[in-house]
Amino acid sequence: MATNITWHPSLSRSERNTLRKQRGFTIWFTGLSASGKSTIATALEQHLLHLGLAAYRLDGDNVRFGLNKDLGFTEKDRNENIRRIAEVAKLFADSSTIAITSFISPYRADRAIARNLHAEAKTHPDDEPIAFIEVFVDIPIEVAEQRDPKGLYKKAREGKIPEFTGISAPYEEPENAEVRIRSDQKSVEEAVQEIVDYLDKKGLLK
Ligand code: PPS
Repeated sequence: MATNITWHPSLSRSERNTLRKQRGFTIWFTGLSASGKSTIATALEQHLLHLGLAAYRLDGDNVRFGLNKDLGFTEKDRNENIRRIAEVAKLFADSSTIAITSFISPYRADRAIARNLHAEAKTHPDDEPIAFIEVFVDIPIEVAEQRDPKGLYKKAREGKIPEFTGISAPYEEPENAEVRIRSDQKSVEEAVQEIVDYLDKKGLLK
């Protein structure tokens, strides 16, 4: 970290949320490639926007075209990918927006870092932690491999993509995700409803 930098006090999060009439938080999707996380996350974003709420989705492939175009898929690069996304999601959430992230985020430790960043986010002494909802889009690897919409599993099996999640790189399943969706057993609409019901139950959509 640089030296000679000073933290500037800002508005409290509750003041900002009150003025914007919305509470910001982060919905963190995790799951294998082709699990359906981006599809469900996009449908959720649309649903929340239709409810009149500010929501914005950050997507794995897309962010790698810009902010994270210097990163690949080694463990170290994935750590940095998730660290940056977590910081960005936190800023969106701090601005009273619902941040929706859809990244494989295969390492438990990285997801824990993202969660902690939200729990400890304080730009003002009165700030409460930012809610962080982990959504595990669960699918057997065989089903993901059969779907293979981008042909990546096939290439990975042929050894043309190194360190491919689920084939030659790990995916560490969440142990305590707030929501778990078996995406091969549910429609996209059912999955969205399940997440919205959870948010409602927790009073996050008020
Ligand atoms: S990570 O692990 O969270 O840093 O990955 P993420 O930023 O979500 O990027 C995943 C998308 O990148 C494509 N892709 C790969 N995925 C996994 N492993 C390897 N080696 C790889 N190479 C490219 C792939 O399209 C992923 O998109 P999704 O939407 O998950 O299928």
